Amino acid sequence: MPTQQIQIFDTTLRDGEQVPGCKLNRDEKLLIARQLEELGVDVIEAGFPVSSPGDFAAVQAIAAQTREATVCGLSRAVENDIRVAAEALRPARYPRIHTGIGTSDVHIQHKLCTTREDVLARAIAAVKLAKSFVEDVEFYAEDAGRTDNEFLARVCEAAIQAGATVLNIPDTTGYCLPQEYGAKIKFLHENVRGIHTVRLSTHCHNDLGLATANSIAGVMNGARQIECTINGVGERAGNTALEEVVMILRQHPYLDLDTRINTRLLAETSAIVSHLMTMPVQPNKAIVGANAFSHSSGIHQDGIIKHRETYEIIDPKEVGVADSSIVLTARSGRAALAYRLQKLGYDFEKPELNKAYASFLQLADRQREVVDKDLHQLVEQEKLVA
Ligand code: KIV
Ligand code: ZN
Repeated sequence: MPTQQIQIFDTTLRDGEQVPGCKLNRDEKLLIARQLEELGVDVIEAGFPVSSPGDFAAVQAIAAQTREATVCGLSRAVENDIRVAAEALRPARYPRIHTGIGTSDVHIQHKLCTTREDVLARAIAAVKLAKSFVEDVEFYAEDAGRTDNEFLARVCEAAIQAGATVLNIPDTTGYCLPQEYGAKIKFLHENVRGIHTVRLSTHCHNDLGLATANSIAGVMNGARQIECTINGVGERAGNTALEEVVMILRQHPYLDLDTRINTRLLAETSAIVSHLMTMPVQPNKAIVGANAFSHSSGIHQDGIIKHRETYEIIDPKEVGVADSSIVLTARSGRAALAYRLQKLGYDFEKPELNKAYASFLQLADRQREVVDKDLHQLVEQEKLVA
């Protein structure tokens, strides 16, 4: 089976930027958009144009600057939102309007205070209006994760008939289990007329830590676009992390699903977004965390020194990290100490190494990490000769 291309729809600048304290100005948004295009994302969701004049201007500027990727603007299923989004996207080479409405009963009853039939009518009207401005219209069924599948299928079918080119099935509240989300995508594939003429998209939130697993379940069941953010930034527990889904597909070629992402730019992109959003990346974050390729226990260090693949499933260079690191702590063994000493130019015979190791352990028990400066001092104090 030929490898299927999964489109990467990056929403760092829209869903990601909704995080309190992460607001970006126009120039910062432009810089991130440029980086995302270089990274190879297929769609950049640049913002929610009706939300503020600043966001309108940022979407407009990104639309003018971007040459390869599709530029997308969010709108509710509201006439003015759609008109404003269309205006902001006018300079785009490949514009997309992303419009939609809540479809779960809890949204219909308690947020929209209306009926399923009214939601259906508003969805159709929104897609038709968006279609009068742009060819590429993505429809989102907000809270699809908690929406009854039969009703969701009706809404999706109506959106396709109204002209939608992409159907977004958001697990807005991060509620679904992977098999449940995968089954929902499969159900739509099997029960919506015209589904094969559009692209199904995943959009998963991380409230139960399942956003990545759910997105992968989605593409394994027929979705062909993943909506995600750099570092998984987003409201509450965040969105699906781009770097995670991309590397999962790259590391499992037998799935025959891949993206166009240049993975060697992942670490750099993560650092840029973290810096501009003043949002630190947790050290144990998969792929881009500071500890993702660092090894500190003796057993692991011994393995890594003998052969990298004993404890690493990804070559760090593949994601733009120069090398794995061997961190010296009180849990490190002789092999790691010898390795680090050798890198500093000290090639000790066994008796000298044993002596160095004994002193090293005393030092390591007193501090969290033993760094190169400590090792030089240790060699000098113990008058060790290589
Ligand atoms: O999570 C969600 O449902 C969204 C939509 C607006 C697409 O972000
Ligand atoms: Zn969202």
